[in-house]
Amino acid sequence: PGPVKLAVIPGDGIGPEVVAEAVKVLDAVTAASGTVFEKTWFSLGATRFLETGDVLTAEDLASISAHDAILLGAVGGVPGDPRLKDANIERGLLLGLRFALDHYVNLRPTRVYPGVPSPLADAGDVDFVVVREGTEGPYVGNGGAIRRGTPHEVANEVSVNTAFGVERVVRFAFAQAAQRRNKLTLVHKTNVLTFAGGMWQRIVNDVAAEFPTVTVDYLHVDAATIFLVTDPARFDVIVTDNLFGDILTDLAGAISGGIGLAASGNINPDGAFPSMFEPVHGSAPDIAGQQKADPTAAILSVALLLEHLGLAEESAAVTTAVTADIALRDSRVRSTSEIGDAIARAIGAH
Ligand code: NAD
Ligand code: IPM
Ligand code: MN
Repeated sequence: PGPVKLAVIPGDGIGPEVVAEAVKVLDAVTAASGTVFEKTWFSLGATRFLETGDVLTAEDLASISAHDAILLGAVGGVPGDPRLKDANIERGLLLGLRFALDHYVNLRPTRVYPGVPSPLADAGDVDFVVVREGTEGPYVGNGGAIRRGTPHEVANEVSVNTAFGVERVVRFAFAQAAQRRNKLTLVHKTNVLTFAGGMWQRIVNDVAAEFPTVTVDYLHVDAATIFLVTDPARFDVIVTDNLFGDILTDLAGAISGGIGLAASGNINPDGAFPSMFEPVHGSAPDIAGQQKADPTAAILSVALLLEHLGLAEESAAVTTAVTADIALRDSRVRSTSEIGDAIARAIGAH
């Protein structure tokens, strides 16, 4: 096979800092294995918008689409920056890519790695994956406002859930569960969101018939936050809608030892479009430019990327090096590049 064509979007804030380390590790693992990656760097995000006024042009999208996979750092300027008021980088760029490239599975694994200082005193053996729907729900932008500037302003934000969209992500989640510990938890709010929740529940019940080994469970999203803190080891695969999945996966990152450890894949399982791998966290303006960000989430996103491309050995090498690095952590604070160097060196040593 020819070289793997990789689009790299460092983005804003800590994005370029953590992507530099992720690419360092990718280079180390591919140098060892001989797989060739051909990288194209894209300057996109708040910084690019402030320079050119563009968020994501048709040419950007066409060019990115011609790659085999995408590695993204984080996008988004400093919240409240008045110059970015009309840009909405998150919607225009991040959601723009997820929607255009039909990333209907947002895969967000959580592990509490041995030796990690989790805020939970005794987390237990935590290893679950959130399958977050990526193209629908309240994220679609089907909203509107009227009577703006009056005390009677009306603002609507419609959650769009299609039977087609829910069924395909639910089927993916069942398939994941069947390859893992055979447990699937639907998280929703069926007691209040009766239309959308009812449809999610019915579709889960229907698809369950195709996966007889998988045990199905249900939690309301509020209760799910309780169990994520009190008993996270109970989860195997969680399937949920776009917004609930967003919130639960920041919580999952926190219990795993920090948001700087949480990786994700925006996946188009059909392979019609390149999938995109990125840390769960954002551009972290509060620590940007200080080499304080933990690049582990970006590095683990490379592991997900390699696995997605069928490079299982390279993926495992990255995960092994990260696991070892986490196990050896002590109270000494390391810089972003020190962490990346240590992980890259561990891979080079094998
Ligand atoms: P954030 O994830 O950027 O930061 C939340 C907190 O976590 C901050 O205190 C930050 O310092 C810390 N943090 C984040 N990543 C870290 C890392 N790798 N190591 C150590 N600490 C880390 O969320 P926010 O502050 O709500 O958002 C900041 C900007 O990022 C906003 O513009 C937001 O829209 C955007 N955002 C982008 C993405 C993305 O590109 N995928 C994701 C989330 C938020
Ligand atoms: C994430 C982020 C994005 C989301 C924002 C920045 C649009 O929070 O990737 O989790 O809500 O999906
Ligand atoms: Mn989020």
